[in-house]
Amino acid sequence: MKILVVGGGGREHALCLSLHKSPQVEEILCAPGNPGIAEVADCLPVAAGDIVELADLAGKLNVDLTVVGPELPLSLGIADEFSKRQLPIFGPSRLAAQIETSKVFSKEFFRRHGIPTADAVVCGGIDEARKAIKRFGYPVVLKADGLAGGKGVLIIESEEDAERALRLFFQERVFGAAGDRIVVEEFLRGQEASFLVLFDGQTAVPLPTARDYKKVYDGDRGPNTGGMGAHSPAGVLNAETASQALKEILWPTFRGLQAEGREFRGVLYAGLMITDGGPRVLEYNARFGDPETEVILPRITSDVAELLRAAATGRLDKFVPLEVKNEACVGVVLCAEGYPGNYEHGRPIHGLAEAARLPGVEIFHAGTARDGDRLVTAGGRVLVVTAMAASMTEAAVRAYEAADRIHFEGKQLRRDIAAGGIRPSRI
Ligand code: AMP
Ligand code: GLY
Repeated sequence: MKILVVGGGGREHALCLSLHKSPQVEEILCAPGNPGIAEVADCLPVAAGDIVELADLAGKLNVDLTVVGPELPLSLGIADEFSKRQLPIFGPSRLAAQIETSKVFSKEFFRRHGIPTADAVVCGGIDEARKAIKRFGYPVVLKADGLAGGKGVLIIESEEDAERALRLFFQERVFGAAGDRIVVEEFLRGQEASFLVLFDGQTAVPLPTARDYKKVYDGDRGPNTGGMGAHSPAGVLNAETASQALKEILWPTFRGLQAEGREFRGVLYAGLMITDGGPRVLEYNARFGDPETEVILPRITSDVAELLRAAATGRLDKFVPLEVKNEACVGVVLCAEGYPGNYEHGRPIHGLAEAARLPGVEIFHAGTARDGDRLVTAGGRVLVVTAMAASMTEAAVRAYEAADRIHFEGKQLRRDIAAGGIRPSRI
C-alpha cells in the first residue's frame, strides 16, 4: 500500500509511525509533514488546506489510501473532492464534518436526534446571551460557533467575566466570524474522557479510550490549550460506560448523520463528560484527537493500515473486536515558553536521541523544524513524549524520565499527567 497522510503535527507523526509498522505499507507520503515524520515518510511541501492539490497528488502518485489528520481540510471538503475522483480517503464529508466545525450545528443536531448533552441556547447577540446566562447561572460555558483552535470555549464564573467574554465575542470580535453566534451552555460536572470510534457507514469500532489534559497548568488551572498531555485508557470510561456511550451517543449520531445524508467514513471523536446521570457529549471532532492519538495508536495491535483502509472502504466488520495491548500509555507535551499565548520559534532542542532510547518510550514531533543540522522549536506544542508500560504509574514515570532528558530554552510541561494512576484495562 502507498499511503498519503495529510497534516504535520504529533498526531500525524503517530499515524505515520503506526502505518510504518504495517507489513502492508510500502511507502508513506506526508503533506506537509515535519522533521520527525521525515524519518519514516517522504514529506511533500503541500499545505493541509490545499485540497485540490492534494487530490491531484494522490491521483498522480497512485496513492492507495489518504488519511486526513486535521479538521481544516475536512471542513473544506477534502473527502468530497477525493470521492468525486474515486480516490479512497479516510475522513468524513464536509457535511458530516460540520459536527465539529460548527458548535451551533452540532447542538441543534443533538437536539434533533435526542443525543444526551448539556442544555444550551444559541445566541447571536449580547442581550440574548445575557438572558441565557441568567437562566443557567454560574458557572456557565460560552462557546464560539466556529473553529477557534481549541480556544473558543470559555468557562465563566461571574457576571464580570461574562461581560468581558461577551465583549470579546461580539464587540472586539477576537474570534472573527467564528464568534458571530455563540452557544451558551449549562456547566456539567463529572470526569472527562475522549472516546474515539471508527465508522465506515455500517460498522462502528471503538478505539482504546483516552483522556486529555486541556488546561495549561497543573491541577487543571489556566487557559485551555490544544492539549498538554494524555493517557490511555481513560479509567473513568470503563467497559460498561463505554458501551452505554456507544449505544446512547455514538450510534444515534452515526444514524442521524446518515439520515441527513452526511456521509461519514473515518473517526468520530466524542469529548464526553461522565456525569452522575451517565455520559454526555460535550463536543465532537470529526478526526483523530491530538495528543490522544499519540497514546491510543501504540496500544492497537491490529494492523493500523488495514484498519484505516477498512474504515475508508466499508469493511470494518473484519476488525470486530479490535486487538488492543493490555498496557497503559502516557503522553506528556513539551511546549514553548509562553504557550498558549505568544511564543518564539527557533530554540535548539537537545537530548532527543538519549530520551528515545528509554524502554517503551516513543517521541512524536509536533512543532519542530530543521535549521541546518540543528533541530529547533517551531510551534507552541513542540514534542509529545510517550511511554508505554504495564501500569499507568510506570508509564507516567517513564514518560517524565524521558521528558526530563530533553532540553530547549523555556521548555514548559505539566507535571501531573496521569497523576492518580489507574490500572490498564482492555477498553
Ligand atoms: P469543547 O471544545 O466543547 O470540548 O470544550 C473544551 C473544554 O471545555 C472541555 O474539554 C471541557 O473541559 C470544557 N467544557 C466544555 N463544555 C462544557 C460543559 N458544558 N460543562 C463543563 N465543561 C465544559
Ligand atoms: N485533544 C483535543 C483535540 O484534538 O481537539
